[in-house]
Amino acid sequence: MGEPSGAAPGAVGSLSVAAGSGITRGPGFERARHETVRYHDELYAQADLGVPGTWLARPHPLVTWSLDLVRGRGSMVAYDLGAGVGRHTIPIARALGVGSRVVAVDLLDGAIRRLRTNAARAGVGPMVTTSRCDLEAFRPRAPAGLVVIFSALEHLAGGAVVAQVLSRMQAVTRPGGMHVLGVLCDRTEVCAGRERPALVELAWTSDQALAALDVQYEGWQVLRRELVPSTITETRDGQTHQLRSTLVQYVAERPQRLGAATSEVARS
Ligand SMILES: C[S@@+](CC[C@H](N)C(=O)[O-])C[C@H]1O[C@@H](n2cnc3c(N)ncnc32)[C@H](O)[C@@H]1O
Repeated sequence: MGEPSGAAPGAVGSLSVAAGSGITRGPGFERARHETVRYHDELYAQADLGVPGTWLARPHPLVTWSLDLVRGRGSMVAYDLGAGVGRHTIPIARALGVGSRVVAVDLLDGAIRRLRTNAARAGVGPMVTTSRCDLEAFRPRAPAGLVVIFSALEHLAGGAVVAQVLSRMQAVTRPGGMHVLGVLCDRTEVCAGRERPALVELAWTSDQALAALDVQYEGWQVLRRELVPSTITETRDGQTHQLRSTLVQYVAERPQRLGAATSEVARS
């Protein structure tokens, strides 16, 4: 599937087959995906960009930091994968300016609708192309100067799918183009004083994520590679849940010639 269109992967009994990936997913995945859809549909119906009280209040500092690096590089196509309602799509469009385009992809119809409204309200509507699509099925076409994937990779069906998605994005990334990734790992939830593993499609530890990303970005210039503890509180069925995780922040730039990069960040 290319941009901008989309289709859900096909279901086969209680298992499902990821479109075109040859990867079969178990019932655990379906429960986690159901929860991802429920949580985001509910949040996007209630909360707005820029309003304090949720993570939608402001762009994440990692993305803001990265935009300061790409500002002034001239017009380009940027991708915001798992874009939600445009928390980063809008600042990306503003930072890149006229002549650039942002391709925003999300699984949810409701997110894409809100994203379009938010982008129009922010005055960047004409710069934004949207695609309602599972990242597994997304096929980028335009050469990329910037790829932002913030808190979406952990919603894919496994490490092999993450590698496929990132490889496709790497294949269209121009020399000097930048990938900005935030991945929530080590996820647990605390409810009524009890801590248990959170329901998530890809339950990566931060060590697993770093190891996978180091392999994926071999030969790229790694600009940031760090772990940040993170806590989000949400109310579900009248009960307060604290979602604890480690945010893996990873920023890498494609060198002018692959194989020419020397990493600035110690891989410890
Ligand atoms: C935690 S939100 C982050 C949204 C946005 N990146 C931000 O930082 O504001 C995760 C988003 O990824 C989307 N998502 C989850 N799984 C996806 C998938 N397989 N394909 C496309 N989008 C997905 C969700 O619908 C949701 O909008």
